[in-house]
Amino acid sequence: MSDPYFQKMFADRIGGADYGKGTEIYKFEKIKRAKRKALADNPRRRLLDFGIGENDSMAPESVRKAMAEEINQLVNRGYADNGILEFKEAVGRFMTRQFDVNLTPGTEINHCIGSKTALAMLPAAFINPGDVTLMTVPGYPVAGTHTKYYGGEVYQLPLLAENEFLPDLASIPANICKRAKMLVINYPNSPTGAVATPSFFGKVIQFAKDNNVVVVQDAAHMMLTYGSRPLSFLQVPGAMDVGVEVYSLSKGWNMIGWRIGWICGNEKIVRAFADIKDNSDSGQFIAIQKAAITALSDDEIPQMVRDKYFRRLTKLVDMLCRCGFDCKMPGGSYFLYTPAPKGVAGGPKFESAEEASQYLITEHSICTVPWDDAGAFLRFSVTYEAKDQEAETELMTETEERLKQIQFEF
Ligand SMILES: Cc1ncc(COP(=O)(O)O)c(C=O)c1O
Repeated sequence: MSDPYFQKMFADRIGGADYGKGTEIYKFEKIKRAKRKALADNPRRRLLDFGIGENDSMAPESVRKAMAEEINQLVNRGYADNGILEFKEAVGRFMTRQFDVNLTPGTEINHCIGSKTALAMLPAAFINPGDVTLMTVPGYPVAGTHTKYYGGEVYQLPLLAENEFLPDLASIPANICKRAKMLVINYPNSPTGAVATPSFFGKVIQFAKDNNVVVVQDAAHMMLTYGSRPLSFLQVPGAMDVGVEVYSLSKGWNMIGWRIGWICGNEKIVRAFADIKDNSDSGQFIAIQKAAITALSDDEIPQMVRDKYFRRLTKLVDMLCRCGFDCKMPGGSYFLYTPAPKGVAGGPKFESAEEASQYLITEHSICTVPWDDAGAFLRFSVTYEAKDQEAETELMTETEERLKQIQFEF
């Protein structure tokens, strides 16, 4: 088939004239294909799917009820622009209750249509061609992708087990620090499950001040914090001078498809974000914002979500340890990030986590997500579908039986 007349017109940021012609297959597509193959080759063997990264429950009944009522209200019909004040006020009350962080709702908080969109928009506020965004890897790449769209560069900060999966800010070369405008961090971290400490956040603030860098702390997994109280970047003195924190109702409130979150912190950065946003979308449906107020006003909701994933992670860690994996309970998120096996005794050797993951799917119908950005790791998610606790335990038993048949080498 011949190229359309506009083939040569695609922008360089998406591949230019070569757009759509690449043969490279991306990680999640490879996983999908391997899953299809496993199901076709072994139709009677259950696929044990630890690859899904989305909450498995729907939003709580109270939130759905609020939505059902609000959807019928005439006042909710129009453009929401930068959001209703009642939502910002509910966020303000939540931030005070949860973290003792007191914000001015009108100026220091703004809603977003999911935190993904906020991370996509923030580079527009700061990045000119040639500017640098510092980003941790492995991680959620959206702010980096948009940095590049604006002609900026991404400098990667590896998250290593020996540093508790915190970036080593002192390792960044002086010439990069000079060109850096944004530092994007994410705690609780996806996929490593690491949590930050006040002392680490303190170092981030000092680094930002020393190098004139704006900090964006992605708090999408905040309410999935285990073993300690959730820690907001804004709790640490000085944070309000250097950055913003981006929140989401997706994970902690089971509202993943509802597309609602917020950005809060430094007033001028929040305002710049709101200006970019105002020129990009017209705000989330007001009924959804109001349903989110119901969610934000009930602290039992994130507690219930947290308890479930804590229970599932505990079972998973115990089971994987019995199968020879070297893992411990993560500090947060619904992911377990563990070193990938290097091979199977008398069987295949794995050059990467991707090879180990492909082997597990195709040969044993166990799906995980591989990460090879900073060492070879497998990510097991506990967002699998299981109708009750018995089904969870049964899934662990079946996974254990299958894994124990394999003589992994680590
Ligand atoms: C680290 C991180 N940040 C942000 C997001 C985006 O979440 P949402 O757009 O649903 O708020 C995700 C979703 O997977 C994530 O894992």
